[in-house]
Amino acid sequence: MKIALIKGDGIGPEISDVATKVLQTLVPEMEFEEVEAGEKSLAKHGVFLPEQTLNKIKECGFGIKGPLNTPIGGGFKSINVTLRQHFDLYSNIRPVKSYPNSSTRFNDVNIVLFRENVEGMYSGEGQISDGERAESKSVVTRKGSERIVRSAFEYALKNGRQKVTIVHKANILKSTSGLFLKTAQEVAKEYPQIRHETMIVDACAMNLVRNPANFDVIVTTNLFGDILSDLCAGLIGGLGLAPGANEGNGIFIVEAVHGTAPDIAGQNKANPTALILSCKMLLDRIGKSKESEILEKALVKLYTEKTELTKDVGGTNGTKEFGEALIREIKALQ
Ligand SMILES: NC(=O)c1ccc[n+]([C@@H]2O[C@H](COP(=O)([O-])OP(=O)(O)OC[C@H]3O[C@@H](n4cnc5c(N)ncnc54)[C@H](O)[C@@H]3O)[C@@H](O)[C@H]2O)c1
Repeated sequence: MKIALIKGDGIGPEISDVATKVLQTLVPEMEFEEVEAGEKSLAKHGVFLPEQTLNKIKECGFGIKGPLNTPIGGGFKSINVTLRQHFDLYSNIRPVKSYPNSSTRFNDVNIVLFRENVEGMYSGEGQISDGERAESKSVVTRKGSERIVRSAFEYALKNGRQKVTIVHKANILKSTSGLFLKTAQEVAKEYPQIRHETMIVDACAMNLVRNPANFDVIVTTNLFGDILSDLCAGLIGGLGLAPGANEGNGIFIVEAVHGTAPDIAGQNKANPTALILSCKMLLDRIGKSKESEILEKALVKLYTEKTELTKDVGGTNGTKEFGEALIREIKALQ
């Protein structure tokens, strides 16, 4: 099977080299079709997201994406957002799970956050600034809210999850967050087997930090989901451990939650676990459950033993050496 691969900027090439080697060890018949996007593509083809890249992703149906740089407060529109909107990848699934020794604070976090991925504050509509006054538009639709909330409840149902927390700010953002909340409560009625609760986003942030074990599945709008998923990453030891997937209309693209980490790029310091766990989501999605289990066992062993970990989680290994140790563990389990 063929997977489109965007290696990405910054730490992207380092972590995607490790992640693809791990996948090839688990599924030797898997092939990667490297395609370009972002600054590299601009330099080579004059565009950020070339037609060939979009066509290849469509043809494969599956993709692995490294992080891509986006200029802050100006410049071009985020390629990540453009890609999600092009394929209407409305569902951003971001699981966070404690691994042994990954965090000194909590060891019992197991949350899956569903973030609406194409609407809300990230719709990109109405961004105006004259230097004195700036505006941007948040767009929430019933259809958009319905499908992301349904994805969260369906996931809960299929994966034996007990509760869905609907996160909003409908007390202040009465139109947009109000429509999301109302729609979510209607969808929740279709799933009487799954408990649900509603929570205002600020209270949710506080409750997550105080007692993350109280959370199971979370569903929320784009901006809140982006912020809360970084918060959740902090609960389990940082961005080096937080995976993600973007799904919609038959396309499934996995990517880590983190960005290009320019401060450590090219230094063999990045933790590739987040992208490897994203690839584990790909294995689960294509029905490679045995391979996914082996990967999970190998990761748990490395995190339990602590000796092969990267610096961000208290170890001394580089990106490459962590990858090599993981592949050794996988081979021992195969
Ligand atoms: N999906 C994406 O492509 C994506 C997501 C977020 C940010 N970005 C882009 O990335 C660039 C940098 O953003 P930022 O600095 O705000 O966030 P970042 O996630 O790149 O980095 C934040 C901090 O976390 C650390 N970190 C991140 N990933 C790590 C890993 N795998 N192992 C160890 N440490 C890790 C970094 O060293 C840094 O200190 C920006 O251009 C931003 O737009 C892209």
